[in-house]
Amino acid sequence: MEHDYQLILNEILREVEALKGQGEPAEYIPELAKVDPSKFGASLKTTDGSTYTIGDSEERFSIQSISKVLSLVLIASLKGEGVLGRVGVEPSGDPFNSLAQLEYEHGIPRNPLINSGALVIADMLISSLSNPKEDFLAFIREISGCANIDFDVKVAHSEKLTGFRNAAMANLLKSFGNIENDIEEVLDFYFHQCSLSMSCTELAKTFEFLSNGGITIHGKQVISSSQSKRINALMQTCGFYDEAGEFSFKVGLPGKSGVGGGIIAVHPKEYSIAVWSPRLNKKGNSLIGMKTLELLTTKTGFSIF
Ligand code: DON
Repeated sequence: MEHDYQLILNEILREVEALKGQGEPAEYIPELAKVDPSKFGASLKTTDGSTYTIGDSEERFSIQSISKVLSLVLIASLKGEGVLGRVGVEPSGDPFNSLAQLEYEHGIPRNPLINSGALVIADMLISSLSNPKEDFLAFIREISGCANIDFDVKVAHSEKLTGFRNAAMANLLKSFGNIENDIEEVLDFYFHQCSLSMSCTELAKTFEFLSNGGITIHGKQVISSSQSKRINALMQTCGFYDEAGEFSFKVGLPGKSGVGGGIIAVHPKEYSIAVWSPRLNKKGNSLIGMKTLELLTTKTGFSIF
């Protein structure tokens, strides 16, 4: 279907102006609180090779929980079905950093896109890679086609100093035998993956494989089309924690948010889009980011449903 994406994005840029100032940037990671909260950008990349951008689309920001999809993709490419068993595939209906379910579900996280699940995936990656952080970074550089993407060590350090809930979660997981490696190493890997610094355009390029049956921008089959379907399904049902239903209801695309204010969404066979606006709603998802995607699928009349 033909859509004038640039015209639509330009309209959205004007319309979301009215929401500026609503919501609050994440402050529990002190380094994130320093980012200019008025930033706003988006980049949409179609599978046929066109890119459409608005605003601060080329400025890098902390991708935070968006990285949970990328670590899942790497472990899926290395272990296939071997991921299942230590982490589930059901939405949690709870905040991303909740500890409650983990206790009564005996240390098996509901899904890989909440913090507890991502900590288990981080542990699996540490067991599977010879130089975990370096190898993960090399993987991101490869699928994004950007050789200078890097961790923001200040953000990783800042989170390490305040990441008490993640530390509690890693300990709880370990007490149930669902962490193999040293807890400090798992947390260090996790804080680094979350600190990846990328722009909307880099994210849209990186996530193209999920709109293209597992094939990256350089034509490499990074995961199978069946794995790509499954990861999109997980984003659809679990990508927004206790707001996953609302995102699905309003936007109608698989997506994943991060507390840096970024959101990635995918329209299989059509496009990948990244949006960034640091002010978050009460559930920790970018307020203007969600509105932008809602307006996109409403104005185009085109979602997966
Ligand atoms: O673990 C944390 O709290 C952060 N590094 C990531 C949280 C996050 O991005 C959740 N997103 N909406």
